[in-house]
Amino acid sequence: MGKKRILSGNRPTGKLHLGNYVGALENWVRLQNEYECFYMVADWHALTSDYADTSAMRGNIDSMVLDWLAAGLDPDICVMFIQSKVKQHAELSLLLSMFVPLPWVERCPTYKEALAQIQDKDLRTHGFLGYPILQAADILIYKADAVPVGEDQLPHLELTREIARRVNFIYGKIFTEPQDILSRVPKLLGTDGRKMSKSYGNCIYLSDDEKTVNEKASLMVTDPARVRRSDKGHPEVCSVFDYHKVFTRERAAEIEQGCRDAALGCVECKKILMASLKTLLEPMRIRREELLKKPDTVRFVIEDGNRRASEAAEKTMIEVREALRLVP
Ligand code: TRP
Ligand code: SF4
Repeated sequence: MGKKRILSGNRPTGKLHLGNYVGALENWVRLQNEYECFYMVADWHALTSDYADTSAMRGNIDSMVLDWLAAGLDPDICVMFIQSKVKQHAELSLLLSMFVPLPWVERCPTYKEALAQIQDKDLRTHGFLGYPILQAADILIYKADAVPVGEDQLPHLELTREIARRVNFIYGKIFTEPQDILSRVPKLLGTDGRKMSKSYGNCIYLSDDEKTVNEKASLMVTDPARVRRSDKGHPEVCSVFDYHKVFTRERAAEIEQGCRDAALGCVECKKILMASLKTLLEPMRIRREELLKKPDTVRFVIEDGNRRASEAAEKTMIEVREALRLVP
């Protein structure tokens, strides 16, 4: 038996921040040696909500893939590709949509939430309703055994399995039901304690230089009740401590105690965090420097990835067309 297969994707949101890293990319890097991995830029998925202004798309794709490579995804062992360059995803999405009862997509929690929360875009479109069907096609077309994702994507994965079961029930076993591989950190908040988001300006980016990271870390919100150095702190309400739990794991207990006893000051505590972030980001900086010296690298990686992904996707589509008695 060969290696098990993984597919995962990210909408091209541009340069990646620490939340993106611990929410997905960290897992992707870790899994690439163990599995045959397909990592996809979900540009069609970006269009489902951002169809009215696509001016940032190309730049966002390039900076995201650059971050992938800098973070350690190795193009020799994993396939990195662009969804819209593998047209079979659209074909399979269309075919799957024939099988999906409307209520399955209408009651999807991510769909209902987006409709309720997002006011500045009209999301009452066919494409946005079909978001999880396209995602199911992304996964099923590679017969992926597993999908590394964050918790927010679990409803989409459940729907993917339901669709796979339904088609398999009617047409015989074509698709594999994928398992989820959850990331170690469900959600990393921004430096101000709110949801980490570009629009809040509270992100630390993987491509930030050391000075920028240190400035952002030094401005992080801490326990508001700890006014003087001699006050005892409450790490559970401090965003610096939240970061320590993720980036200084092995010393988190000691830091927590130091904060509670007022043995550790906030300035010192932030310095420890700066060092942890440097350990994580410095190798990425070095790789990024190397990549920027060879500006065609990203393009070559993607072209090769598109080719390898197309080959794998077409193999499944031959089976699907035959099962549905479509003209081969
Ligand atoms: N919906 C995913 C997100 O917003 C992106 C995505 C598209 C994806 N296709 C996928 C993730 C297939 C996993 C598998 O993050
Ligand atoms: Fe937060 Fe650290 Fe200050 Fe405690 S010592 S309040 S954990 S910054």
